[in-house]
Amino acid sequence: MRTPLDVLTLDELRRRTSVKWRAFDPDVLPLFVAEMDVAPCEAVVDAVTAALRAGDTGYDVGTTYGEAYARFAARRWGWSVDASTSRTLPDVMLAIVEVLRVLTAPGDAVVVNPPVYPPFYGFTANEGRRVVDAPLGTDGRLDLDALERAFAVATGVAANGRGPGSGRRAVWLVCNPQNPTGTTHTPAELEAGLALAARYGVRVVADEIHAPLTRPGLDGRPATTHTPLLAVPGSEQAVAIVSASKAWNLPGLKAAAAVAGPGAADDLRRIPEEASHGVQHVSVLAHVAALDHGEEWLDAVLAGVERNAWLLADLLAEHLPAVGYRPGEATYLAWLDCRGIDDGPSSDGVPAPAHDPRGWFLDRARVALEDGRRFGVGGEGHVRLNLATGVDVLTEAVERMGDSVRTAV
Ligand SMILES: Cc1ncc(COP(=O)(O)O)c(C=O)c1O
Repeated sequence: MRTPLDVLTLDELRRRTSVKWRAFDPDVLPLFVAEMDVAPCEAVVDAVTAALRAGDTGYDVGTTYGEAYARFAARRWGWSVDASTSRTLPDVMLAIVEVLRVLTAPGDAVVVNPPVYPPFYGFTANEGRRVVDAPLGTDGRLDLDALERAFAVATGVAANGRGPGSGRRAVWLVCNPQNPTGTTHTPAELEAGLALAARYGVRVVADEIHAPLTRPGLDGRPATTHTPLLAVPGSEQAVAIVSASKAWNLPGLKAAAAVAGPGAADDLRRIPEEASHGVQHVSVLAHVAALDHGEEWLDAVLAGVERNAWLLADLLAEHLPAVGYRPGEATYLAWLDCRGIDDGPSSDGVPAPAHDPRGWFLDRARVALEDGRRFGVGGEGHVRLNLATGVDVLTEAVERMGDSVRTAV
């Protein structure tokens, strides 16, 4: 199977100048940051080239981004989004910040579900919001009891949803699907979370940047699907941040849109006009082209990611059987539990690779991964590996990782 992940050689990829290819020395296999080793989507190349040739490099206007996403969402998930109230914003994290500014004040709480995308912590803290953790369960799924406890802490309302509370507002920032575990939250989980949030007066914001990256279910493997938060009953007051950036590998051409349930449309209107000033019109054109004309390319990428997710399971079983790994339901990220790796006797009883697997694999295997500790509670002893690469790179990375542990014992 030849997919867009199988087109470029490592030498060609190393000529790229983005962080993935410049952060480490050339002998390191970079499987850390969420960039894909894909040949680009032709529809995007054509749209950007045409815009540059036509000099269509002015300011962005209107809701074309939201409208293109709505067309994609209708085809993909049968979900009709009201794009008329959407706001085009420079990127996903800035969109989240703008929505948090409207829905909360400094000192208010933002509930997150670690392990989760590290900037959920940094950006909210920078805005003076308090982060309250509601960790995922050990099965990697939303833990509704933990969520309820976090809502009680966030709002000061007694656990059971009764009482006056602190008067402070709060937001539940849900990563749907979840980076780094690849969990797709089910309609039932989202509906239960929304109901709890309503009981505590907590507003809900979903980051849906990984939404298109579910599994097609090839060769009899299970297919998975994304449930848009705003398609779930009880989401009338919720906001979703959507983007083509992850699925079409466009972080260098960033853009995003905030879309709202009917009860949250006014909140999006309250985002100040200044927030739109960073929107890059050519990036919007790139995303619109991806959403309107890039589905075939996306499906080919998803076939490659699914192949790699299961290949990784085989490679780990062969070279690093002590690593815990469950192929996720979405994203091109793999969440590896390295706590079982043993490299022989250690002074404090915790083997070195399990202590700091990211440091170990970088130093001894020359493979760059994300440090699980950055993802909050539950990240200790874990690393995140980026699957969106060719078979050769993935295979060599796991072989090197396996060798680094074997030679250490
Ligand atoms: C869950 C999640 N949200 C947001 C982002 C970043 O998006 P942006 O670059 O548009 O801010 C990423 C990047 O990997 C991500 O995984």
